[in-house]
This record gives sequence, structure tokens and C-alpha cells, in this order.
Amino acid sequence: MATPAKRRKGDAGRFSVKYPDILLFIVDRNIPRVRHEHLKTIARKKGIPVADKLCCNVTHIVSELETQDKVVEVLRKQYKKDVISEDAEILSMRWFTTSMEESKAMEVNDEYRLPREQKVVQEMKESEEVEEELSVAKYACQRRTPLKHFNKIFTDALEILEKNADFSGGDQDYSRALAFRRASASLKALPRTVTSMKDVAKLSDIGKHCREVIQEVLEDGHSSEIENILSSQWFQTMKLFTGVYGCGPVTARKWYDMGCRTLQDLKKSEKISLSKDQIKGLEYYDDLQVPVTKVEAEALRNFIIEELNQISGELSVLITGGFIRGKDSGHDVDFLISHSVEGKEQGLLNKLMSRLMEKGLILHYNGQINSFKEESAKSPKHSKSSMLDQFEKCLTMFKLDSSLVERYSRTTMSDKVADTESTSNPQSNATCSAKSDAIEDGKHSLSENKDKAWRAIRVDFVVCPSSQYAYALLGWTGSRMFNRSIRLYSDRELNMTLTSHGLYDKTRQRFLPATSEREIFDHLKLTFVDPWERNC
Ligand code: UTP
Ligand code: MN
Repeated sequence: MATPAKRRKGDAGRFSVKYPDILLFIVDRNIPRVRHEHLKTIARKKGIPVADKLCCNVTHIVSELETQDKVVEVLRKQYKKDVISEDAEILSMRWFTTSMEESKAMEVNDEYRLPREQKVVQEMKESEEVEEELSVAKYACQRRTPLKHFNKIFTDALEILEKNADFSGGDQDYSRALAFRRASASLKALPRTVTSMKDVAKLSDIGKHCREVIQEVLEDGHSSEIENILSSQWFQTMKLFTGVYGCGPVTARKWYDMGCRTLQDLKKSEKISLSKDQIKGLEYYDDLQVPVTKVEAEALRNFIIEELNQISGELSVLITGGFIRGKDSGHDVDFLISHSVEGKEQGLLNKLMSRLMEKGLILHYNGQINSFKEESAKSPKHSKSSMLDQFEKCLTMFKLDSSLVERYSRTTMSDKVADTESTSNPQSNATCSAKSDAIEDGKHSLSENKDKAWRAIRVDFVVCPSSQYAYALLGWTGSRMFNRSIRLYSDRELNMTLTSHGLYDKTRQRFLPATSEREIFDHLKLTFVDPWERNC
């Protein structure tokens, strides 16, 4: 056993050692450099010696990687030889965080040990590098892309590049942005973390620029290009301005070029004439930065169901968008409303909006009438704006009162829910014939709270005729990338045009009706992908 003095080698030496028999090593793979330094410091503060370099005296190795085998593989490559002591424990970050929380080095047990892969073949081949080749299907709509995936450290970086290109704005920038997104989408579908450049060799959506970024992240835990973007005033200001409702990259660039840098600058500037959307966007800027939680979205659905119940029966109200894909929060709530009898959905939205406005719940809105024409659903369009549909809709800023959330979260719809789609869908469809507790309570009016017990949130209401419901659901479930992919696939591989209104077979020159998402996937000869696996 090494002496404590030796163990302290590499320590900052500023903190007293409480655990002389431990020498901790934190694997930097998948941990940004700054955080890595921070982790080492806090461990030392708790009296745990930490080695900056791996050596055979290390007793505890902690890592963000998923298995002991991965850790060994990564360290072997990094240090070009085997320097891990046979007695060293290879632990998950859980050991680390628990030790920090408890202010003591936790006893090691299986709960904290990383699992082993138990690949006999691999063990037999010893140091020979055996890696399964990673590959993904050509189109994102042919893959399963979960919300939580293994390559966040890379996809976060690529999505900054995407955003940066998006902010830049030209046609070329649009295709660059898309290329970053495609690269990110393929990494999200991988069954494990990328640990070497060989892992991305077979991924055709990852171009030269993306490879360079991935390599840098692999080697240094971060990318200098991304850090430069993030710290640039231009990027930060563009992010701030595009966060204003009603302001896209074109306007944000214009404001930047006029010398504006802050929201105050926009409010003060005499040269800028703000649109109505932007005025409201600035007024509720802080509110709209707060994500809407699932609890809030569900409470709101219960409330909307109750309101619609007063207008008509036989309606369905579904939360679509990110929530149906399993997200816990979102930048808005997207409601898809439909009537079981075709045609009866007409006029519903006006009535609903009138009721909500009477109650003072709509702070601002943009309405769109149904302008759907069959002709427009026959030819494919893959540009940014043509992803939009022609349904009747109302995009609102909704005054969400905390008392509304409290009251309507109590409502349990579970026994009254009609599931329209896949069986284990975590988000089910609720029909309007359901009664909520709030109705039974007889409390209808929402109390005004002068201490602003409310905040503005964005809520989109979309109404579709029942014959287009499945297509509207597919479109509004997203993700945007999934839509882009499935539409491109339909066009290129099947000569069909897919929109949120329907599927048009250009060869047979006819629309293909569908009553469920599954039927659409069948028409497209695609394996069904659950909504929570469409997070590309
Ligand atoms: P959102 O922009 O609300 O995205 O559009 P999201 O996935 O729900 O993300 P968060 O959680 O709010 O941040 C939801 C889906 O609706 C489609 C988009 O393509 C997206 O997939 N959509 C949006 C349309 O089909 N038409 C529109 O006019 C707007
Ligand atoms: Mn949304």
C-alpha cells in the first residue's frame, strides 16, 4: 500500500487529507474540463486525495461512462498502457455525488460499482480492440430516437453550431444548420456513447466539420469553437433577441446591426418600430423564458376540456408537441382539438376563444382561419416555412394562474380517458365527455390575484377535421426533424407527399386516408415509431 504522502501527489495540497487510504481518479471523458476541475476540488475539500493523472496507486476511479469495460478501454487508450491497479474500484458518479452530499467517502458496494459488460469474446481477445461498428438507418424516421440518449455532450455542441448557422440566416447557412442537425440526429439514435472516431466512421450524416468537433470533444472534453461561439457578443445578443416572441433571426440581426444589445435598448430605441407581437414579447419576456411543466400543461388541458364541454360534446383534446414525446417541460403547450363528426369542429375555436377572453385569460393572440386547399397538399415542400399547415388555429399568450394549476391538477382523468394511439402511450387522449372535479366543485370563475400569482405562457390551439386527425397528430407531435425526415422519405422513396393534412400518392394520384398514426406508418412501409422515440 502506498504512503499517504505519495498518494497526495497531484493534489493541490491546500486541503487536509481525511482519507489517506484513498486515491481518487475522475475520468474526464464526457465531463467538460471546467466541471472536471471543479469535481476534483470539491473532493479535495472533503479530504479525499485526488490524482490528476492515472497511476497504479489509484484506489477509486469514478466515471460518467456506462460500464467498467468502457472505462478500462478509454483509459487504456489514453495512457497507452495498463496502469489500473487490479484492486481499483471502478465506480459511477453516484458514489461521488453521494460522498459529497454525505461529506464522507462512501463504502464501496455494488450499488456504486459500474456494471460489467460480460462479453466473453471480448475478454478472450484481451487487448485486441473489439468494437461493434455503429451505424444508423438512412432516414431519422426509420430510427428510434429516445429523449435521453448517450451522446449529449456531442449533440449539445453540434446544436450550438446549428443555432449559430440559423442565426446567420442565408440560404447556405440554412443548409449548414440542417447538416449540423442531421449529424446530431444520427448521434442521438446510437445505442451507446461514442468513444472514438472509429465509432462515427460509418455515419454518413456526419460531415468533416462535425467530425472535427466530435474529435475535439473526445480529446479535450469540450470544443474551442463552441466556446468561442458561446462567449461571442453576437451569439449572446442573437439568442436574447430571438427569444423575444415575434422576433426571428432576420429582425434580431437588424437590431444588432443598429447597435442594440439589450432588451432595454429595444424598448428605448426610437429607430425601431416594434410589432404588436414583439411588444407583448418584451412585456412578458421573463415569463416566457420559464418552461411550462407537464403538470401545468395537464392542468390546463383539464380546464380547456371543461370549457369545451360547455360548447359541445364528442370532442377530443390532446396535448401534442414535446410533451407527447415524453418531455417534462416545453416552451409552450400545443393542443390539438377535433370533433368526432366531420365538419362539427368548425366554429369551435371562436367559441372557445370568446370564453377564454371573457375570463381575461388571453393576454395576446394570433389567429389563423382554415385555409386548407387539397391542391397544396399534393406537392412536397421541404423549405423551413412550408412545414407549416393550414389548419384553423390560435397561437396565444395565456395567463396561467397558479390557482388554476392547483385546482385542475387535482382532476383525475385516468378513468375517463380514451386512448386513440399506441397502448403504452404515456400521454393519453382525453375526451370532453369527461367531467372534472372542478365542475363538481361548482367553482368556475378564476380569482384575480393582484400579487401576480400568474405568468404568461404560450399556448397553441389547433383544430382539425376528424378525417385529417391522424395526419395532424403526426405533424404536431414532431419533432421538427422527425417531420422533415418522414416527409423527405415519403417524397424520395415513395413518390408521396406527406403533410399535416394528409398523404398524397403522386403515382396513383390519390389521397390515402388514415385513422391512426399506425396506418400512416403502414402506408409509408415504415416500422411504427412511438412518439417518445421521435426525439431527433
Ligand atoms: P413546437 O414548436 O411547439 O415544438 O412544435 P415542441 O417539439 O413541442 O417543443 P417544445 O417542447 O414546445 O419546446 C410542435 C410540433 O408542431 C409542429 C412542429 O413541426 C413540431 O413538430 N408544428 C408547429 C406544425 O406542424 N405547424 C406549426 O405551425 C407549428
Ligand atoms: Mn410545443
